[in-house]
Amino acid sequence: MSSILPGKRILLVIGGGIAAYKGLELIRRLRERGADVRAILTKAGEAFVTPLSVSALTGDKVYTDLFSLTDEAEMGHIEMSRDADLLVVAPATADLLAKMAQGVANDLASTTLLATDKKVLVAPAMNVRMWLHPATQRNIAQLKQDGVAFVGPNDGEMACGEYGPGRLSEPLEIVAAIERALAGPTFIPLPVSVRLDTPLLPALPLAGKHVLVTAGPTHEPIDPVRYIANRSSGKQGYAIAAAALAAGARVTLVSGPVALLAPPGVKLVPVETAREMLEAVEEALPADIAIFSAAVADWRVADAGAQKIKKGEAGTPSFSLVENPDILATIAHDAARRPSLVVGFAAETEHVVEHAKAKLARKGCDLIIANDVSPESGVMGGDRNRVHLVSARGVETWPDMDKDAVARALVAHIAKLAGA
Ligand SMILES: Cc1cc2nc3c(=O)[nH]c(=O)nc-3n(C[C@H](O)[C@H](O)[C@H](O)COP(=O)(O)O)c2cc1C
Repeated sequence: MSSILPGKRILLVIGGGIAAYKGLELIRRLRERGADVRAILTKAGEAFVTPLSVSALTGDKVYTDLFSLTDEAEMGHIEMSRDADLLVVAPATADLLAKMAQGVANDLASTTLLATDKKVLVAPAMNVRMWLHPATQRNIAQLKQDGVAFVGPNDGEMACGEYGPGRLSEPLEIVAAIERALAGPTFIPLPVSVRLDTPLLPALPLAGKHVLVTAGPTHEPIDPVRYIANRSSGKQGYAIAAAALAAGARVTLVSGPVALLAPPGVKLVPVETAREMLEAVEEALPADIAIFSAAVADWRVADAGAQKIKKGEAGTPSFSLVENPDILATIAHDAARRPSLVVGFAAETEHVVEHAKAKLARKGCDLIIANDVSPESGVMGGDRNRVHLVSARGVETWPDMDKDAVARALVAHIAKLAGA
């Protein structure tokens, strides 16, 4: 496939983190693919890479100072922010994310990021504690709501010796994310005319609604230390909960065990098993809309041991399985408690749409979101998803998108169906 990069103008903001050196590598990778790169280096960034290195690699001068008389005369910060096809922040420090989320504009990088009318892609990099801190997570949720695209961070060992999420994505991963960002609309549309009596923020389509979302896998015990699980990461469900919250809803998120932080403002009910999930769902009712995206285990072990099963005591153990309650069907068929809109998910490895059509009829829900979870699709645990919307009105297939984009589009679609 040919690259979209030749001739594209990328404005790269390099923040002050250990990973700034990868920003240099990113410039090389972009330029060898035909992109023009202009760079802004923050004051802290200058402590990690030199302006001379950045300038040598971009083949342009490097921009560092908001109040430079010469820079402002040659290429003002407003002009620079509009002259690019895409703004990329790599590495994006916790500090830069905080400034962007708050609209702080007190240096060249933050002012340019606030003044732009172009799409912004950020590649965060920071210590795992900084990344997991509720303040950073709040800023990220805000930025995603504002339409900022993200790539990474990756899990791994850090320069500080700790392990976890916070490593900058590799330069080629960022290049791929840049190509994806450039393939879509690259500008942030502003209202053409804003009447004085028109609020600047769009109306919140789910204001006043209670949205119930389930997410993640369930863990079904074999004994007190072992369990049956599946590969669901919960990312899609958590993204839906965040999008519903952003649309103004009160959101309850009933979640199986996942390694994600609940979006701030969402009511999280953590559960382990399918039976606990059903109980939590029933307790959360009444709801106006229910979105069952959890990958609930179909079966559990009939007699989970109360003690750890010891090796060698009675040969290799064998287990009989019993069916778990069907949460989607139970709620969808319960006339008294049924939310007015019930949405189910169908994860299939083959005949995705056919199975989803059968499931729609069997479960009695209004809409099934079907996706291919075969290992080749990379959906389970991954950041992207390609979904089919199956309803009585037919089948609608959406293009491959990141899970946040799927969540936003889905919430907009559901809000319309709910007549909001
Ligand atoms: C050795 C060292 C490494 C740092 N690495 C990071 C990092 O990887 N990510 C981060 O968010 N901040 C990191 N910081 C802190 C930032 O440099 C600091 O918050 C700075 O104000 C960021 O400025 P900027 O966002 O304008 O570039 C580091 C600081 C030091 C001294």
